[in-house]
Amino acid sequence: VTDELTLRRPDDLHLHLRDGDLLRAVVRHSSGPFARGLVMPNTVPPVLTATDAEAYRKEIRDAVPAGHRFEPLMTIKVVPSTTAETVRQARAAGVVAAKLYPEGVTTNSADGVRDVMALALAFAAMAEVGMVLCVHGESPEAFCLDREARFVDHTLPRLVDEVPDLRIVLEHVSSATAVDWVRSAPTGLDGRHRVAATVTVHHLLLTLDDVVGGMLAPHHFCKPLAKRPEDRDAVLAAALSGDPRFFLGTDSAPHRRRDKESAEGCAGVFTAPVALPVLAEVFEDHGALPRLDAFTGSHGAAFYGLAPNEGTVRLVKEPWVVPADHGGVVPFRAGTTLRWQFVDGGDQGPTG
Ligand code: DOR
Ligand code: ZN
Repeated sequence: VTDELTLRRPDDLHLHLRDGDLLRAVVRHSSGPFARGLVMPNTVPPVLTATDAEAYRKEIRDAVPAGHRFEPLMTIKVVPSTTAETVRQARAAGVVAAKLYPEGVTTNSADGVRDVMALALAFAAMAEVGMVLCVHGESPEAFCLDREARFVDHTLPRLVDEVPDLRIVLEHVSSATAVDWVRSAPTGLDGRHRVAATVTVHHLLLTLDDVVGGMLAPHHFCKPLAKRPEDRDAVLAAALSGDPRFFLGTDSAPHRRRDKESAEGCAGVFTAPVALPVLAEVFEDHGALPRLDAFTGSHGAAFYGLAPNEGTVRLVKEPWVVPADHGGVVPFRAGTTLRWQFVDGGDQGPTG
């Protein structure tokens, strides 16, 4: 039996760190286990420009506990007023990706985009400067369970066809339709993949039954919604397959307990504190533990053109009970016992 697991220091290529007090409460749960994280820009106010991204990067760095080495990879939010110049300036400031939210589709997206192709010039600039477009792929006008499939059928093909060389990450894939589309998407002129997808921890495990099939489970409520068992199974198969187009982006999305357990409950699952132990369970349960390292530590970096992290993290097979609460935020699997636990003391790699 394996009772210890060593992984290359992982990347979380989609997470929400918020700002202010909430940032300071949650960041340690990402900056401990992860070497880098692609930080979503849907704060209030949003991260729209190079200047915003630089200020937010500083706020995050200041909040990371001493002793953690964590690099926030910054994003800007695409809004109707985003221009090619916005993109170029952001890229010059080290911004890695821009995030497209269709208008009204999720938390803090009222300023999102209605007419995606109206932003073709900004997307062309992204292709030119090598910035990735991260897409929340849901069409808000469709029925809630069909929003991702509608976006995949109606909007993504146009983006891929009409903006040559734009590199796209379909975030938090949650349906068989989306998984199939990513697998069949065209490669670039250079033969590299142009399209990839992040996979969350919770979409590997949950179906809609886990949200509304019994007692209402607000801590499992997220966007895109967890769907049918066959959708969950397609997402799981993609993650376990070793296909480099599928990599970890937890979409860890902390909201305070009162904002989740509410008449107008916020979407988001706070998975950062349990991400690696839960992934170890899932991959082990499916006989795919040897593939976890690439899923968390190299596929994503490769797609983003980043060097893989140096150093390792360690998990041991010792049961631990997930705390009920972290600073007023309820983590995924709160109060349950996990088989694996993350231990500090991996090799952090060269410092500096
Ligand atoms: O569940 C989600 N929470 N999905 C999103 O797209 C946004 C996120 C958040 O910011 O809370
Ligand atoms: Zn997200």
